[in-house]
Amino acid sequence: MTGIVVLGSTNMDLVTYAARAPGLGETVMGREFRTVPGGKGANQAVAAAHAGGEVAMIGAVGADEFGERLRHTLEASGVDTDLLRTVEGPSGTAHVVVDDEGGNAIVVIPGANGTVTELGPGDETLIATAGTLLLQLELPLSAVLSGAAAAHRHSVRTVLTPAPAQPLPPGLLATIDLLVPNEHEAAVISGVADPHAAAQALLRQVPEVVITLGAKGSLYAARDADPVTVPAPQVTAVDTTGAGDTFVGALVVALGEGRPMPEAMRWASAAAALCVQRHGASTSMPYRSEIEAT
Ligand code: RIB
Repeated sequence: MTGIVVLGSTNMDLVTYAARAPGLGETVMGREFRTVPGGKGANQAVAAAHAGGEVAMIGAVGADEFGERLRHTLEASGVDTDLLRTVEGPSGTAHVVVDDEGGNAIVVIPGANGTVTELGPGDETLIATAGTLLLQLELPLSAVLSGAAAAHRHSVRTVLTPAPAQPLPPGLLATIDLLVPNEHEAAVISGVADPHAAAQALLRQVPEVVITLGAKGSLYAARDADPVTVPAPQVTAVDTTGAGDTFVGALVVALGEGRPMPEAMRWASAAAALCVQRHGASTSMPYRSEIEAT
């Protein structure tokens, strides 16, 4: 049995560090450029593996150097890549600007991720063995819907990070057990700006919601429980890229170990706080021993 299966994206992040991101029509000078393995799916896989989970990844990389490096990064983190396909054409890339406050702006070019339009041979069998399926929205929606439906058929817990934020196809949320949006994503999906009210609105469609609130922590709401807010450790962020993915990866590991939701959220917040103090996505995801030491 594989504890956690991730159906999601792999991107090579092309990261520019600059005092601030340029506006439209503007050119600014940057300080440094790095290529860092990322992609919301791969990030969640690496974060969960570092946190102590047994993880397998379903998705695609391109037949290029980025693809080789993306696969190697997952494997070096202990993620099973047997169902990570290598396809003709370029790997996904994410064009990231990180400013001096650690905030980022990102444009994603799907590349190989765009070829994952449905489940492939063996995917449903693997999903059926999992305790949890992690989904995000950087693959074509048809694949996300197929993955969620497969998990639902086999009573596998599904966790969706609805990022990048977009209106969701009818029926998707009905197959999701836990939704983990950030404030912005919660507002886009629910149509409600206030996170507490957004959480209540989202509970009409999913049984449990965790909204990440950045430095303000995270908010849990469930149909059969009072809402709980968990504060985040106060740290100085140098790069917030991948912080949400780190939170989700660590959260599902803690939940899979049977920890109560508030404790799992505290643990996930500690992991995300470590992530934002380091540069890059997969390069900044803490190991279990580091999370335990906080
Ligand atoms: O969530 C962070 C990720 O978003 C980055 O690694 C980038 O690849 C984009 O997909």
